[in-house]
Amino acid sequence: MKSTKNIKILLGDITKIQADAIVNAAGKGFGSIVGGGVDLAIFKAGGNELREEAKREKEEKCPNGLQIGQAVITKAHNLSCKYVIHTLGPRYYSEDINKLKDCYVNSLKLAEENDCKSIAFPAISTGAYGCPIEKSAEIVKSVMQEYKSGKIEEFIFVLYSEKDYEVYKKVFKVLDK
Ligand code: APR
Repeated sequence: MKSTKNIKILLGDITKIQADAIVNAAGKGFGSIVGGGVDLAIFKAGGNELREEAKREKEEKCPNGLQIGQAVITKAHNLSCKYVIHTLGPRYYSEDINKLKDCYVNSLKLAEENDCKSIAFPAISTGAYGCPIEKSAEIVKSVMQEYKSGKIEEFIFVLYSEKDYEVYKKVFKVLDK
């Protein structure tokens, strides 16, 4: 990345963000089984049609459940964005945390394929799946440093607590230089 002009770090609820695509930190059985956290918030805001589409996509693309790092796209239905990209992060204490990178890279690929110009991510794996926010920020920063395509113009990272927001701001400041 030459510049960070198009990277935004925001504090808030991802379901309220204006972006072409928002990313869901989904569970393995996305759509069929909705957990808590950001997954629940997205499915609540997206409504029944989002749930129905997610179930259909799951059956078609991954009947045995999402693989870690895999990403699947649906329309956004009642949400104000165009698409939701559902991806499964690794559990910090029992799975390979380096696969967190795949969640971001595969979500970016899907967003590009669907002509999205902006995308918003939550801090995948940092809630129920236990990844420290510092580790998440370092992994996400490396994805951004390596991202070359340029088709996406705006990357929004949405943090849900003041503490997480401060950590991301601190880690990403490096990119401003
Ligand atoms: N907007 C933005 N971020 C949110 C929101 C929201 N509305 N709600 C929660 N978060 C934050 C959490 O504070 C955490 O930092 O999203 C981050 C990811 O937390 P989780 O939603 O728990 O996701 P994850 O750790 O990847 O665990 C996924 O939890 O909900 C289940 O079905 C899901 O099994 C899956 C697992």
